[in-house]
Amino acid sequence: MKFLLISGSLRKDSYNTKLIRHIARKFLNDHEYEIADISKFPIYMEDTDVVPDAIENFKEQIRKAQIIIISTPEYNWSTSAALKNAIDWASRPPKDSAWKGKIVIIMSASTGMLGGARAQYHLRQILTSVDAILVSKPEIFISFAQEKFQDDELKDEFANNLIRDAIENGIKLYQIHHKDA
Ligand SMILES: Cc1cc2nc3c(=O)[nH]c(=O)nc-3n(C[C@H](O)[C@H](O)[C@H](O)COP(=O)(O)O)c2cc1C
Repeated sequence: MKFLLISGSLRKDSYNTKLIRHIARKFLNDHEYEIADISKFPIYMEDTDVVPDAIENFKEQIRKAQIIIISTPEYNWSTSAALKNAIDWASRPPKDSAWKGKIVIIMSASTGMLGGARAQYHLRQILTSVDAILVSKPEIFISFAQEKFQDDELKDEFANNLIRDAIENGIKLYQIHHKDA
């Protein structure tokens, strides 16, 4: 399968970025994957005539991917502005939205006790609005992320099992939606 991984954090030592890199190393060896870079995207503005190359490239990455994995930080009980901006860019113009019918697995890592749950529910709502197809279970919340990573590895067996299950469910969901292809 072809995966695209997206971290919603631009921070150099981001736990969400560590998480998607960890997933690529630990779970995607038998698959193809790319990691998106949303860090240089300008703020979306509807009057713009020029779509930056970085956005066209991002939309192409989404189109090529069969399964997308997004890990979001939680900023003030919601997803990051950077991630929302990237989703907005790739959803426009509506006729050319890259999200329609895409299988998406979402997760979050935060230093708080809820592991980014509130951000994830906002993210689920946003992605539903652009007609992505979300893997609903298992839910993956990495709470107290500062205690869970060693040498950029997620040292949490319970969470790693959930991630494995979510990827399997994503593949099954893809197959259900593309069984006639
Ligand atoms: C502006 C801002 C708001 C935050 N709000 C929350 C929050 O609502 N809930 C939470 O659990 N953590 C919150 N945090 C802490 C983040 O979980 C923490 O900074 C985390 O490391 C961000 O993800 P990252 O490591 O991928 O950058 C906030 C951090 C920032 C910078």
